[in-house]
Amino acid sequence: MAAVRVTFHPDRVSTEAASGASVLEAASRAGLNLHAPCGGQGRCGKCAVRFLSGAPAPSERERHFFSEEELEEGWRLACQARLEENAEVLLPPGAVMVEHRIMVEGVGREILVEPCVRKVPLKLPAPTGDDARADLMRVLQALGPGVRPAPHPRLLQALPSALRDQDFEITATLFGDELTAVEPGDQSARVYGAAVDVGTTTVVAYLCDLATGDLLATESALNPQARLGADVISRLRIATGEEEGLARLHQAAIQVVGDLVTAAAKQAGATPKDVYEVAVVGNTCMTHLLLGIPPLGMRAVPFTPGFRFAQRVRAEELGIHIHPEAQVYVAPNIGGFVGADTVGVILASELGEGDGLRMAVDIGTNGEIVLAKDGKLYACSTAAGPAFEGARIGQGMRAAEGAIDSVEIGEDVSYHVLGGVPPSGICGSGLVDAVAGMVRCNLVDPGGRLRPAEELGSVPAGLRQRVVGEGAEARFVLASAEEAAGGEPICVTARDVRELQLAKGAILAGITMLLTRLGHEPADLEELLLAGAFGNYIRRESAIEIGLIPALPEDRVRPIGNAAGVGARLMLSSQSLRRRAEEAARRVEHIELSQEEGFYDRFAEGMALRRYE
Ligand code: FES
Repeated sequence: MAAVRVTFHPDRVSTEAASGASVLEAASRAGLNLHAPCGGQGRCGKCAVRFLSGAPAPSERERHFFSEEELEEGWRLACQARLEENAEVLLPPGAVMVEHRIMVEGVGREILVEPCVRKVPLKLPAPTGDDARADLMRVLQALGPGVRPAPHPRLLQALPSALRDQDFEITATLFGDELTAVEPGDQSARVYGAAVDVGTTTVVAYLCDLATGDLLATESALNPQARLGADVISRLRIATGEEEGLARLHQAAIQVVGDLVTAAAKQAGATPKDVYEVAVVGNTCMTHLLLGIPPLGMRAVPFTPGFRFAQRVRAEELGIHIHPEAQVYVAPNIGGFVGADTVGVILASELGEGDGLRMAVDIGTNGEIVLAKDGKLYACSTAAGPAFEGARIGQGMRAAEGAIDSVEIGEDVSYHVLGGVPPSGICGSGLVDAVAGMVRCNLVDPGGRLRPAEELGSVPAGLRQRVVGEGAEARFVLASAEEAAGGEPICVTARDVRELQLAKGAILAGITMLLTRLGHEPADLEELLLAGAFGNYIRRESAIEIGLIPALPEDRVRPIGNAAGVGARLMLSSQSLRRRAEEAARRVEHIELSQEEGFYDRFAEGMALRRYE
């Protein structure tokens, strides 16, 4: 096949290509990665380039995207125009993607950075007698066809002085193909975004450089809504039943998100005005409260959310004071109790991308479970209650300084305390360890009963002495009064064991129901991913020993950290991954467990403290 030579301007990069190759292919041969959002299918019209010479006849698709005048000027779609002879092609500003790949920790995934927000530096000719184009036209033409101005007056109000301030050198900010802001000079290096995970308990903000995808700063805080209501259910009640309840919860969420983004920007040496986009994940209730949407349908079966699809709102309108044109992107929800945070987990863990049977479980007050089978996705939620967060446990506490977070029980008891201080309570991972050890050493039977003294004959003396009280008052001492911070022994009570059984019964029932529905046994799982902080800290063997998760070989159970937050970062940094997340959220089949036959039997069965094969 004959070869043609093509030269790309303004950088004068030349290459040879086979006659009939597309401009997109030739550019890639020359090492230029052109922006081609629809993958070169001629559908999006965003790969516009301008032939200075050697233009082929326009195709029907190109006629659809360009005016007669633009075609005459040489504008074509890089993915559609076929090179027939030697050609000179001008690439408009922003046409070449600056190739940055980032590794995102926790998921080991390398991604191409292609954020929604782009800054394009432009050096424009000043008006002359022969060139008296309007300011806006001057900028739009330099950016190429397909770019349209934002439909608000602020852009036009800023434009004339921005152009003249630094001799027609400006930076244009584009959201997709919409020109939303201009500023004088080359400001293209200052473009930041924040990914935010709004959890019921904790809110985390990650500040990223949108041009490189680099994570620059992380800030977190307790969700201030907790002062109004501890869990999702109480917040739903306040939002829908109390006067001003929704407004107060909404305000608290806005305040903490704004504060964290500001603090993260400061930590990274930037200002809030440099932040152009915030991508948010959170459970369905949290995303509703953040947007001020009354979660009325979520109070009772069938738990209908107010919205499922992704939302985009101006930050200013919400009261988040960052760049005046910044947008807040809220990831899609799946159902009333399976929210955008689960979509983040799906994206980060690549569930549903490929064959096989894989599952992700986010163990928390509300356990979210996603099963992927040969590219199809199924999700459910299960109300585990707050035991894993240390609530409703006699001496339970969050995983903070002073919490016993791991326990070993053998001939005697040893434990680890967060912060290396005397213990003041026990957190979820410590409780799981303790109960697993108590079952292993016959201190507790599989039904959850603390065995009375007369049944402890075979138990080592060091452990026997730690059992005090009887019946409902029976308890097992982990740390003596002398060892503990408050001068009170730290114990696991019969009631604590019961609370843990209820929580873990709910999680195991969710896991097994979902598997059974698709005709599978736990042993068929190729991988079980544990998302979230709790999943990260619990000891796998202990979780398996008490049947919180099925008994799988250790190499098939993998903690993946804060996958929801990682998912938010991916959605912030990559438009195609954002689309992938939206598409995944649309195709997940949401299963309402409480409506499934046999769920309560499973739940009761799941409470047994034994391995579940
Ligand atoms: S890449 Fe979409 S039209 Fe060319």
